[in-house]
Amino acid sequence: MLRFRKVLIFMSIILSGSFLVAESGIGVNWGSVSFHRLKPSTVVDLMKDNKIEKVKLFDADPDVLQSLVGSGIQVMVGIPNEMLATLSSSTAASDLWVRQNVSRYVVKGGVDIRYIAVGNEPFLQSYSGQFQSYIMPALLNLQQSLTKTNLAGYVKLVVPCNADAYESSLPSQGAFRPELTQIITQLVSFLNSNGAPFVVNIYPFLSLYENSDFPQDYAFFEGTTHAVTDGSNIYSNAFDGNLDTLVAALSKLGYGQMPIVIGEVGWPTDGAIGANLTAARFFNQGLINHVLSNKGTPLRPGVPPMDIYLFSLLDEGAKSVLPGNFERHWGIFSFDGQAKYPLNLGSGSKVLKNAKNVEYLPARWCVADPSKDLSAVANHMRIACSAADCTTLNYGGSCNGIGEKGNISYAFNSYYQLQMQNERSCDFDGLGMVTFLDPSVGECRFLVGVTDKNSACCRASCLWFIMWVLIFWGTWVFLM
Ligand SMILES: *[C@@H]1O[C@H](CO)[C@@H](O)[C@H](O)[C@H]1NC(C)=O
Ligand SMILES: *[C@@H]1O[C@H](CO)[C@@H](O)[C@H](O)[C@H]1NC(C)=O
Ligand SMILES: *[C@@H]1O[C@H](CO)[C@@H](O)[C@H](O)[C@H]1NC(C)=O
Repeated sequence: MLRFRKVLIFMSIILSGSFLVAESGIGVNWGSVSFHRLKPSTVVDLMKDNKIEKVKLFDADPDVLQSLVGSGIQVMVGIPNEMLATLSSSTAASDLWVRQNVSRYVVKGGVDIRYIAVGNEPFLQSYSGQFQSYIMPALLNLQQSLTKTNLAGYVKLVVPCNADAYESSLPSQGAFRPELTQIITQLVSFLNSNGAPFVVNIYPFLSLYENSDFPQDYAFFEGTTHAVTDGSNIYSNAFDGNLDTLVAALSKLGYGQMPIVIGEVGWPTDGAIGANLTAARFFNQGLINHVLSNKGTPLRPGVPPMDIYLFSLLDEGAKSVLPGNFERHWGIFSFDGQAKYPLNLGSGSKVLKNAKNVEYLPARWCVADPSKDLSAVANHMRIACSAADCTTLNYGGSCNGIGEKGNISYAFNSYYQLQMQNERSCDFDGLGMVTFLDPSVGECRFLVGVTDKNSACCRASCLWFIMWVLIFWGTWVFLM
């Protein structure tokens, strides 16, 4: 065990020493805020089939980590913001967290956990500083827990930040928000002393979505009529401009050379104007090609980000739509692991491969009964759509043009699938009916749910079955 860890540490020294010449890694974020979750093993196979070698998680779900055992995939596990208070106030809690969620997996043939994301965008402006004071104490506690388990050289602590942590109109003037200067100074000094990168999430889509003046072609990578001139540097895409704003901000603190990892970057495919398949493919492919070209940015020529994690692997249909309806549609794969568009991840295949052996519910849908008067349906629709996902129906969504009856059917079906096709969930006071004909129209897909409960359900029902057989057999023997 100890020997193995020494080998790991040795390997990691070799690997980190060579990162300047190595290609950036293209990883993915795997979130699970979904009504229809694929079995974790199906998702791991999907990543392996697509030669995705790095994955970022938002927590440390034991089922997910178990499915990654022996996969060879490098993992960033996450600590949700809500856990930071506890971890910052107790070394016993941080020891336990590391033992339960990291060290138990980092064994020969186990899970290759490389990073722990401590919090997720904890400095986000809209959090009004509520997590800020926990970050350094939590980092220090977790670091000593890692040291105790001999993992401190191998597993690195990082803090994924939203790009709203810094600001500037010109990249070279980049600076962290004044109220963050002190905490970020402590953070980068900590990261630097552990050889850990700065992790940042960058979203040109949001810049475009939130600002109607934002020049559309500046969000992409194919050249722009709105290049930003900054002294002798010219920026032709928002991603580089944003990244160099961070580089400048880090330089001001004395850490201009700190490696940078992009923790989240991507483009949604639905739920807003500008969120569509063409734009998402265009952005993600442009990004991947740009990063793999090793061009770097004007402030870091020849040095692309160390790794980037695409946001996201799969759609998460249960995410909050507070930021916008697009929030449920970031996946390069739909919720059921089907590739949404061709994408070359730079690992050999020009296209994405779909998930295999997906366990769908039966091919049936719930729709509005055409023979019924639907004038009193509004309340049913409201209830269906507040529980299930109807975001594609709205303006800019892929199902926006399917008409009033289509809207009702879509809502009924989303609810019915959410309820795992429970018969009563398609009743709606007699207005719904089950159909075996796929009601999808054009780009608007009426989903069929998937199940990840399969093994659990069947093991349980199998036990019941055996019990009944034994009871009948016992009765029969008794009666004889
Ligand atoms: C390990 O991580 C899981 C998932 O994030 C969490 O629910 C659990 O509380 C963690 N364990 C400890 C001891 O904190
Ligand atoms: C897709 O989005 C892009 C920009 O994000 C936009 O220019 C284009 O018009 C959209 N296409 C469709 C078909 O809506
Ligand atoms: C369908 O629902 C969406 C979202 O509520 C709405 O924008 C659209 O106008 C509706 N279509 C019809 C024909 O009622």
